[in-house]
Amino acid sequence: MVAGLKRLEYRGYDSAGVAVLADGGLAMAKRAGKLVNLEKALGDRPLPAGTTALGHTRWATHGPPNDANAHPHLDDSGRVAVVHNGIIENFAALRTELAGRGHVLRSDTDTETVAHLLAEEFSSCADLGEAMRLVCRRLEGAFTLVAVHADAPGVVVGARRNSPLVVGVGEGEAFLASDVAAFIAHTRSAVELGQDQVVEVRRDAVAVTGFDGRPARGRAYHVDWDVSAAEKGGYDYFMLKEIAEQPKAVADTLLGRIDEAGSLVLDELRISASELCEVDKVVIVACGTAFHAGLIAKYAIEHWTRIPCEVELASEFRYRDPILGARTLTVAISQSGETMDTLMALRHAREQGSKVLAICNTNGSTIPRESDAVLYTHAGPEIAVASTKAFLTQLVACYLVALYLGQVRGTQWGDEVRAVIRDLAGIADAVERVLATMEPVRALARTLADKRTVLFLGRHVGHPVALEGALKLKELAYMHAEGFAAGELKHGPIALIEADVPVVVVVPSPAGRSLLHDKIVSNIQEIRARGARTIVIAEEGDEAVVPYADHLIRVPATPTLLQPLVAAVPLQVFACELATVRGNEVDQPRNLAKSVTVE
Ligand code: G6P
Repeated sequence: MVAGLKRLEYRGYDSAGVAVLADGGLAMAKRAGKLVNLEKALGDRPLPAGTTALGHTRWATHGPPNDANAHPHLDDSGRVAVVHNGIIENFAALRTELAGRGHVLRSDTDTETVAHLLAEEFSSCADLGEAMRLVCRRLEGAFTLVAVHADAPGVVVGARRNSPLVVGVGEGEAFLASDVAAFIAHTRSAVELGQDQVVEVRRDAVAVTGFDGRPARGRAYHVDWDVSAAEKGGYDYFMLKEIAEQPKAVADTLLGRIDEAGSLVLDELRISASELCEVDKVVIVACGTAFHAGLIAKYAIEHWTRIPCEVELASEFRYRDPILGARTLTVAISQSGETMDTLMALRHAREQGSKVLAICNTNGSTIPRESDAVLYTHAGPEIAVASTKAFLTQLVACYLVALYLGQVRGTQWGDEVRAVIRDLAGIADAVERVLATMEPVRALARTLADKRTVLFLGRHVGHPVALEGALKLKELAYMHAEGFAAGELKHGPIALIEADVPVVVVVPSPAGRSLLHDKIVSNIQEIRARGARTIVIAEEGDEAVVPYADHLIRVPATPTLLQPLVAAVPLQVFACELATVRGNEVDQPRNLAKSVTVE
């Protein structure tokens, strides 16, 4: 159980707990803080052995992360145990109602209400699956629930609405988890549950129904990676491993994309070519690092297809009443496929008649399931909270989508598409070369550990790369960092420049758009003249930047539009090293979670 929780710890890590059905009752342990605290408690006072158990690792929404608020939660009699992801929005009313009937609520959580409600329903129907269905019909919001009852040994019941739940089907054993990573060491056969479904899992049977009790079926699939992919494999941190895996991730995402006729292929496409020809606007929605991939995609989509493209933070999207219709193509980018803000944005887009194409790294997750088309990134499991290999593969997928649109609409000739694909195919090697030259970047990072602020500048696609560099530093090193469009600097942010402030500048290729290059060289001079310490990322052979670079980081020459694939890598290494020297938890930065399944 704890091994499974460890693999889920990236989803939340502020408290954890387990409960075991044993000796006709329930035994439980829970602890605030990381999973190691729980492990230690279990080491000091082991729980009795049992064959039915549940556990949870939490990212607090209701109530601070203390022992009492950690999951599982029990009913008054201590015979029902529940774990929960998501937010039950009508929990205040439910708590008042339960207190009115004499229940004693021991935590501040929304989850605990479910334990009491389940106990009540079970006492009249004596069927845990039915009790769960009845309770779910009363809940509002987003939830994955898993429950056991000491009076129903041998069955574990799960339910989901707007939050993920997968079943692992082993031999004579079964698992329920929010991510296959939890049970991948035991089985690679998975069943994904649909929206508003309840599952009853027994040692050798899995039964699925809707909340209304009608029999239903989950989608069975085989997980195409194994347990070794979810382990650190000799690296100190998952992040380091994932940075190193980028060449393979990029190459894998390109695999099998060209059919015999030389055309690009997407994974699941429920949008016809004629519908794609009708598209008059592309809207990209995403959060965090995936949003930065979207910002870069805009350049490629508009350049290659001449379709206007907007990029919006998913959390803002539906609240501004965006203009959408049948001719809008919405692209939702999400590593996890579970980010609630992105899910809600795509649902809004579909309600307005827009088709949705998902770019996602997680087979069986909600966002691709609810989309009209999917392009999977083949990065393999990404465990470190700060996204690295998923980002690079999202970029590759974005370029593919742009090319695909260009191909169907005839704005790109077949040989043009193939030329870009060839360039993309060379990126894995280019990233490998970047990775081989990162020692000076790490050494530089170590000298900057005491800095208060680091600024990042870029133009064109280098601007989102600068934003991503700054985000990485904030989330990992907890340092103040900001990314700016280099040309915008003189309109305000240049006031931040003072002696020795480190400024990272992403310089575009001098070959592609020389005007762009010349402009940024001037920008570097402007900041250097004001005392900044310039850290310049420029392609091999770019001599113009040399006189103005206090530190020069070389990346292989690439076409301008593809440069983010190489330029982002030193920024990942830089942030990771700074986090390490500052003594931060690289894989699990404070206050964050990898997959944020609440709005
Ligand atoms: C969280 C993570 C970020 C991630 C973002 C989007 O905020 O901390 O690293 O970029 O979610 O996640 P997604 O799974 O939708 O790509």
